[in-house]
Formats: sequence, structure tokens, C-alpha cells
Amino acid sequence: MSGPSQEVVAPKAPQRIVILGATSAIAEAAARLWAANGARIILAGRNEARLNKIAADLKARGASEAIDWPLDFVTADAGAELGKMVDRLGGLDLLLLAYGISGDQGELERNPAAAAKVIATNFSSAAAWSLAAAAVLEKQRRGTLLVIGSVAGDRGRRSNFIYGATKGGLAHLVEGIAHKLAPLGARAVIIKPGFVETPMTAGMANNGPLWAKPDAIAPIIVRAGEKGGPVVYAPTFWRGIMLIVRNLPAAVFDRLNI
Ligand SMILES: NC(=O)c1ccc[n+]([C@@H]2O[C@H](COP(=O)([O-])OP(=O)(O)OC[C@H]3O[C@@H](n4cnc5c(N)ncnc54)[C@H](OP(=O)(O)O)[C@@H]3O)[C@@H](O)[C@H]2O)c1
Repeated sequence: MSGPSQEVVAPKAPQRIVILGATSAIAEAAARLWAANGARIILAGRNEARLNKIAADLKARGASEAIDWPLDFVTADAGAELGKMVDRLGGLDLLLLAYGISGDQGELERNPAAAAKVIATNFSSAAAWSLAAAAVLEKQRRGTLLVIGSVAGDRGRRSNFIYGATKGGLAHLVEGIAHKLAPLGARAVIIKPGFVETPMTAGMANNGPLWAKPDAIAPIIVRAGEKGGPVVYAPTFWRGIMLIVRNLPAAVFDRLNI
């Protein structure tokens, strides 16, 4: 007589995936891992030539489909466009929102139009796309929304509080979506990277133990697509660092040039 079954069923890897900002270095690293699982991936972004190249590469790496979808996220109608994407895939297992811009803090403080562009890109449009994705997941009662925020959103600092404010607002929004979706069986996760070597940070002196490569962030994103959240730091050590940063008394914090 055999005993109780010991079989462990692995969570099913997502197959129908939409990536908003597929030309981002971090998103591309994650897409390679999903491609190796044979996923079908819509690659949305505004640089058509780069999307074509990335799609070809993902197919070579095992993606069942890699569909380039040229789009500017700020001007697009999020609900209508996402509806077309979901129809094309026949449903949505996972959406990764990866796009964003940083800007120079001093320039953004002097130029309200430039600050408004960062806010429109990183917060207003990202919120619209997140809400559109949440509506799809709510209807399906399954699937995952992953949004890339930043540790910069955890506390306003003089060196980047405009960018940080957009990421902080986005984190609140995604946490709220996660709270709403949880009882329905769907998920939302805000991923908070620290310093990552990508085109976005190319102008910074990027070395030292706090810096990570996109290939180190990608597995954390892929894991977040299957379990955990609603807040995931990437790499994980940033959770401890930001706990300290958030709780420093103003008298100490104000003396730090960060
Ligand atoms: N690198 C870091 O240290 C770091 C740290 C924390 C969080 N993050 C976040 O990680 C995410 C990915 O950034 P990354 O580091 O991988 O930098 P990246 O390679 O420069 O990627 C940013 C992407 O956003 C796209 N984008 C910006 N505005 C857009 C718009 N209106 N429509 C369509 N696409 C748009 C860019 O497209 P184009 O190529 O067409 O410009 C680019 O592909 C961002 O949300 C960023 O804020 C990065």
C-alpha cells in the first residue's frame, strides 16, 4: 500500500506576458528568463528598431512568441491598448511595467515643465496602465501585475525627491491594488530596485557593493511574478537599508548629503 502522495506541484510559470518598457535593460534581462520558459510575450515600447531586435533575440532563447508593440505609454490610451494586447494573447498571466525616466534633480527643480514630464511618465501614465491591468486581473480573478518602483520612493531626499515622489506614489497605488486583488486570487507587486547599471544610471559613478547588474535583478522579478510581495526589494538587502533610512530622525537625516 502506498502512503500519501509526496508530489510537489511547482507554481506554473507565466506564459501570457505583457512588458511595458521592453527596451529597458532590467525588463530585457527578465524577459530572457521568461523566454527560456517558452512564454508568449508582448514587447511594448517606443523604439521600434530595438523592440525588433529584442523580439528576435527572445525567440532564439525559446519564447513561443515575441510580439513587438510600438507605443508611447504617456500618450496611449492605456485601457483600450491593453485590451488589444490581452485579446492578442487570449488572456493575461503577468504584466511587467518597467518604463520610467529619471531626470536631473536640479534641472527638474528649475524647470517645472521638465518635472511635469517625469511625473506624467513615472506616475500619471504608470498609474493609468496599472489600473487598466488591475481591471483585467480583477475580471480574470487571476494573474499578476509587477511594477518597477524604486528605493528612491521610500523617503524624500534632496538628491532626487521629484523622481522619488513619482515612485513613492506609484508604490502606494500598487500596494492598494494588491490589497484589492488579494481576496480575488490575483496579485500586484511593487519591485524596488536600488542602484542598477543600466542606461538610466550611465551618468553616475556606478561601482561599489550597492550596485547590481540587470541580470541580478531579473530573477528577483521573475520570482515576484510567482509568489511574494506586495513589496519586493531588489536586491533584498535594500529592505534593511531603507528601513534604517526611513527611520532616521530628521536631525540626523538632514546632515546626510544623500
Ligand atoms: N537603473 C536603476 O538604478 C534603477 C533603480 C531603481 C528603479 N529603476 C527603474 O527601473 C525601470 C527600468 O529602468 P532601467 O534602469 O532598465 O533603465 P532604461 O534601460 O533606461 O529603461 C527605461 C525605459 O523606459 C522607456 N520609456 C521611458 N519613457 C517612455 C515612454 N513615454 N514611452 C515608452 N517607453 C518609455 C525607455 O524607452 P526608450 O529607450 O525609448 O527611451 C527605456 O526603455 C524604470 O522604471 C526605473 O525608474 C531603475
